[in-house]
Amino acid sequence: MVSSMMPQERFTMYQGLIVMRKFLFVGIVFAALLHFMLHIFVQKKTVSTLPTDSLKELKTCYNEKFRLILNMSEIEPFLCGNFRKQSVDLGTNKLDLPYGTHRGERFLDMALKKLPKCSLPDEIKNISCKKCIVVGNGGVLRNSTLGKKIDSYDVIIRMNDGPVLGYEEDVGQKTTFRLCYPESIFSDTLHYDPNTTVVLMMFKPHDAKWLAEVLMNRRVSTYGFWRKPALNLIYQPHQLRVLNPFIMRQVSKNILNFPTVFPKTEKPKHPTTGIIAITLAFHMCNEVHIAGFKYNLTSLNSTLHYYGNDTMSVMAQNEYHNVSAEQMFLRELVDQHTITNLT
Ligand SMILES: *[C@@H]1O[C@H](CO)[C@@H](O)[C@H](O)[C@H]1NC(C)=O
Ligand SMILES: *[C@@H]1O[C@H](CO)[C@@H](O)[C@H](O)[C@H]1NC(C)=O
Ligand SMILES: *[C@@H]1O[C@H](CO)[C@@H](O)[C@H](O)[C@H]1NC(C)=O
Ligand SMILES: *[C@@H]1O[C@H](CO)[C@@H](O)[C@H](O)[C@H]1NC(C)=O
Ligand SMILES: *[C@@H]1O[C@H](CO)[C@@H](O)[C@H](O)[C@H]1NC(C)=O
Ligand SMILES: *[C@@H]1O[C@H](CO)[C@@H](O)[C@H](O)[C@H]1NC(C)=O
Ligand SMILES: *[C@@H]1O[C@H](CO)[C@@H](O)[C@H](O)[C@H]1NC(C)=O
Ligand SMILES: *[C@@H]1O[C@H](CO)[C@@H](O)[C@H](O)[C@H]1NC(C)=O
Repeated sequence: MVSSMMPQERFTMYQGLIVMRKFLFVGIVFAALLHFMLHIFVQKKTVSTLPTDSLKELKTCYNEKFRLILNMSEIEPFLCGNFRKQSVDLGTNKLDLPYGTHRGERFLDMALKKLPKCSLPDEIKNISCKKCIVVGNGGVLRNSTLGKKIDSYDVIIRMNDGPVLGYEEDVGQKTTFRLCYPESIFSDTLHYDPNTTVVLMMFKPHDAKWLAEVLMNRRVSTYGFWRKPALNLIYQPHQLRVLNPFIMRQVSKNILNFPTVFPKTEKPKHPTTGIIAITLAFHMCNEVHIAGFKYNLTSLNSTLHYYGNDTMSVMAQNEYHNVSAEQMFLRELVDQHTITNLT
């Protein structure tokens, strides 16, 4: 090709190359400078807002896809005694519960003082690249015989009162984390597991009040709950964490694109525990698999959970969630091989 060119053409091409190299050089220097500046900026930001150890633990093994979904925000997943500062840094101090701490501060202060830990449990901290499974409560797990497989993961996340007892064959028996709220936490010691860390979600000021009351062994006021909350705590304080509301905000805003205000005629939509659990997993895991998340909303007679007799109609009637939006999001993640679905 080159040999068939006229000499003049060769000359201009040579000149062009020199010019191009100059551009390239300037470009590289500029990019390097930009990278350097961004690096400093990001580091500064990270250091100033997120000073504690548990974050460093989280940073040991990243999954880039999860970071993109979370919009690069690296935060502490659980609230600590200094949650007021955590909230100011994240801007959640100005938002009412459930997506902020406003209107819950007083009781959160009382409750968090009673919790000795706000970091990941030691056994989990030590695993640098965590392979996690989030076990939904879906009826699809019935007769799945996935128990052994589920128990083989580093971190097993379950939700609400989805039992292990009696369902080991299908859902496994280990539970690393269990996400719940006052109306869904186990209160029967039959279900007690000393190896579980319970992650409490605070949806309303009453939930923070409840937590303060059960931790201080006070009489629990059942006013303001949509179902009778647990009146006693079967877990030890070191087994409890409070989910950072910022994570729920991420689910609602970045993942499900819920509006921040709903018209008065409509029930405000909140994410389900399942999608919150998956988002929490994105914060701390390197690999995330899911099971028990398939819901067929058109099949109203099918069983909702792998336990009990509720049917899909219960979920379809729930105006506080948008299950189809969540299913769409999950399908996308599975199609893009961001997560793996076992069921
Ligand atoms: C992602 O984070 C940036 C900077 O923190 C923010 O400006 C942007 O609005 C966020 N995007 C979404 C979708 O929340
Ligand atoms: C975690 O690792 C540290 C040192 O690497 C060790 O001292 C500690 O016993 C480990 N903890 C658990 C619970 O495995
Ligand atoms: C599960 O297996 C049991 C016993 O084999 C059977 O009676 C039941 O119908 C099965 N349930 C489902 C949902 O397939
Ligand atoms: C809790 O973990 C310990 C140590 O791994 C194990 O020996 C024990 O069987 C576990 N208990 C339950 C109830 O899973
Ligand atoms: C959902 O259930 C309906 C009715 O039972 C059935 O026709 C449809 O194929 C199911 N969809 C999926 C995705 O399983
Ligand atoms: C659903 O269950 C109800 C009552 O058990 C029954 O009348 C109805 O025919 C069932 N529908 C379907 C599609 O199976
Ligand atoms: C579910 O229904 C079966 C059969 O009608 C019944 O034996 C069982 O006690 C019910 N389970 C619950 C949790 O209500
Ligand atoms: C649920 O989410 C989907 C997808 O974002 C949206 O099209 C639909 O209108 C929502 N449904 C309700 C009841 O808000």
